[in-house]
Amino acid sequence: MSIVTRRSAITGLGIALATPPLAIPALAQSGDVFRIGLILPMTGPFASTGRQIEAAIRAWLRANPAPIAGKRIEILLRDDTGVAPDVTRRLAQELAVRERVQALAGFGLTPLALAAAPIATEAKLPMIVMAAATAIIPSRSPFILRTAFSLPQATAPIAVWAQRAGIRTAVTLVTDFAPGLDAERAFKERFTAAGGSVTAELRTPLRNPDYAPFLQRVRDARPDALFIFVPSGEGAPLMRQFAERGLREAGIRLIGTGDVLDDDILNDIGDSALGAVTSHHYSAAHDSAENRAFLAAYAAQAPGQRPNFMAVGGWDGMHLLAEGLRRTQGNTDGERLVAAMAGQEWISPRGPVRIDAQSRDIVQDIYIRRTERRDGQLWNIEFDRVERVGPMG
Ligand code: PHB
Repeated sequence: MSIVTRRSAITGLGIALATPPLAIPALAQSGDVFRIGLILPMTGPFASTGRQIEAAIRAWLRANPAPIAGKRIEILLRDDTGVAPDVTRRLAQELAVRERVQALAGFGLTPLALAAAPIATEAKLPMIVMAAATAIIPSRSPFILRTAFSLPQATAPIAVWAQRAGIRTAVTLVTDFAPGLDAERAFKERFTAAGGSVTAELRTPLRNPDYAPFLQRVRDARPDALFIFVPSGEGAPLMRQFAERGLREAGIRLIGTGDVLDDDILNDIGDSALGAVTSHHYSAAHDSAENRAFLAAYAAQAPGQRPNFMAVGGWDGMHLLAEGLRRTQGNTDGERLVAAMAGQEWISPRGPVRIDAQSRDIVQDIYIRRTERRDGQLWNIEFDRVERVGPMG
């Protein structure tokens, strides 16, 4: 904390009535508990993201019960409802000031991560972004590290694949908010650079979208493929319309980032998803020892549910924090923890990952997957891979 005069400290107290001061000496430094303030959408339209990440974190804690560097991990979960950045900001502030957490984590959507970033900076708290995926997020605070992914990273490989697969014309359909615009831009750049042509760019509202008129326009435009990005959870209503409008029968191929066909909802979507090709960093069908261990731990915590890419962001976020704490030997100073976490590499359930030391963003392999039925269930089966993709693709 910088040196404050008595006068400015008193002024600070005056301000405290409206916004509590955040630079508080870390009281818990010597304690035996490491407190993580977890902010997730547990209700509202994006509650599936909250449920997935919470289950993964609880699964990680069950699988790793021993104290880390002498500290027991405690999770303080708060529901920000997924659609109100001011709520996220208030919750982050309360967790920092009143609850004295030593890290913030979660953040289901971009506007919510952006709202919390200044709190992390002011309170000097590591902020682990486990879900939100707009490229610029880690640049908004030197305390942010991301274990999710970024939209340009997930999108660039499918644009290149599409061109190679003989797709010449595409229409893009994205949700009209920051990650959607990232996806739209990245797809167009890569696809046109590879010789393809984007014939229409459609944007659907974030709140209460009705996909029917958009998909009718796509059907009328008859592109070789429709590229889709919608946030996790929105895939089911969109795919219902995709089936009802007969886009598949019209010969329009479905491509996109993996968000639209995420593992949480894939089986509910059913046959209309068959044959779709998407690119993403995680599929529950990923064939590795680390993923099998993750699936087993998740199944013990949430029987009968399949983890999706949000869950793996939560699981890896816990790994990153724990490893950081080990490296500082239990010192919870925010700057030290961030320095100990930046640059880390490990084998995640998704494959090899690294937190880039400069950007604090994740570098990872992106897989091209086809939706197939295996043993009566739908899976995104990985059949190609682009290694070590950076946050800008
Ligand atoms: C985001 O808001 O950044 C976001 C949300 C859901 C996704 C991807 C990105 O599936």
